[in-house]
Amino acid sequence: MSRQIVSIVGGKDTTGESVYESTNPARPGEVVARVGLADAAAFAAACRTAKEAQREWAKVPAPVRGRVIASIGRLVEANAESLARLVTREIGKPYAEALGEVREIVDTCDFFLGEGRRLYGQTVPSEMPDKNLFTFRNPVGVAAVITAGNFPVAVPSWYLVPALLCGNAVVWKPAEYAAASAEAMYRLFAASGLPDGVLNVVFADGAQTFAGLEVALAEGSVHKVGFTGSSEVGRKVGELSGRHLQSACLELGGKNPMVIMPDADLDLAVEGALFSGFGTAGQRCTSLGTVIVHESVHDEFVERFARAAGEARIGDPEQDVLAGPLLDQKFADRYEEYLTWIEPHHEVVSGSTGKITKDNPRGDFDGDGGLYYHPVIVDGVRPGDRLFLEETFGPIVGVTTFTTLDEAVELANRPGYGLSSSIYTTSPKHAFRFREGISAGMVSVNNSTSGAEAHLPFGGNGKSGNGSRQSGVWVLDQFTRWQAMNWDFSGRLQKAQMDVAEIVPDLEFRI
Ligand code: UN1
Repeated sequence: MSRQIVSIVGGKDTTGESVYESTNPARPGEVVARVGLADAAAFAAACRTAKEAQREWAKVPAPVRGRVIASIGRLVEANAESLARLVTREIGKPYAEALGEVREIVDTCDFFLGEGRRLYGQTVPSEMPDKNLFTFRNPVGVAAVITAGNFPVAVPSWYLVPALLCGNAVVWKPAEYAAASAEAMYRLFAASGLPDGVLNVVFADGAQTFAGLEVALAEGSVHKVGFTGSSEVGRKVGELSGRHLQSACLELGGKNPMVIMPDADLDLAVEGALFSGFGTAGQRCTSLGTVIVHESVHDEFVERFARAAGEARIGDPEQDVLAGPLLDQKFADRYEEYLTWIEPHHEVVSGSTGKITKDNPRGDFDGDGGLYYHPVIVDGVRPGDRLFLEETFGPIVGVTTFTTLDEAVELANRPGYGLSSSIYTTSPKHAFRFREGISAGMVSVNNSTSGAEAHLPFGGNGKSGNGSRQSGVWVLDQFTRWQAMNWDFSGRLQKAQMDVAEIVPDLEFRI
């Protein structure tokens, strides 16, 4: 059964210009949703509608907005299983992980419902008498949020929930290949009683979205852009926003390193590498890119890691598997290109590579016609290799060696990303040295490169983002702007820096 989906603006279904089919990557013949795609003009119109709605929404007291967020959390919780099943069906994420993803929306709501009763400003002393200073957090206005489909509901909630709580309206453009999951999430948000136009969902392709965003920014109907996706597109979105004097919140790719020290618990390290490299079929932005393993434990680690990858279950995402299929055909095509980056000086230690088919099976699994791929471990990766330097979204992990911790940190930073990282060690000194030196926004010790929690700052540096942070209290600075107020009740004009009382010290004094 496939759904018919169109953009919803101002609470009303709109008409689509063209039709996109979102399919099940485990059974690509199965259409999950037929999606009417909007054009640039429709995207810009949605931003105007949002701008209208935002004025009234900002007047709703923040604690009341917090109650709406509480209702969204309850609605998502009550619908968790059906939403998770839809995510599994549409993007092939194993069901247990999909449930975890839905849990992340609830966690985000739990955190922000209370923020409705805080959203603190400050009272600040003035340098003059009979004058008070205050700070207020004001909503930015309209946030245009463009999200990827590997986390089709959790990552969008990191933007939507705080943006709405802070009194903004949102135009959300989800990934087309995850449109059914996005539409279901929109419906849950709408059921909370959000006024029409405060949250709008627009399905459109990248080019039309970009063109529509350009119009909206020029017209002044978008005041914040949130983007999760590739570094390449993020750069363009950041440039466009900057031209209109807006700062985008950019959450981009990663080439996340895992350093394994000679004192590491190797069993733990193998488990962590397996999950962060091949869980979600390597399609998290926090997925493991390169294992940087100390030369003294290299052989043993590689042997155990290859064995673990060989034994891992890959298959039907509705079952208990480590990984299901790739998200969509376009990701499979791109992943096949990454496989061509394997060079003669590399050694594939994990067995077969490429798509799992009858001619290239994985044990007795022949891929069932789905977009399933063999997990690939490439040993002997060198710092100048493409495989070392660039993100390879999908189930492929490189391995390289180091001698000193300083060298490991240098190697970990070299690709120039900075989203997530991990070190396996039993020494606090190594853990803290690594933390200090690594450029990533997230550092795990004795844990995989994945696993951000909803109340910690999440975001990247370098090619992984522009330093903006999502989640927790830190994201409030994305969706509010500080306003400073001063109130003089002295009954006269007191001039700052000039009419300030002076207390004269005796600076010549010595004991
Ligand atoms: C992403 O892939 O865009 O830490 C985010 C994690 C998840 C979030 C990943 N909670 O892997």
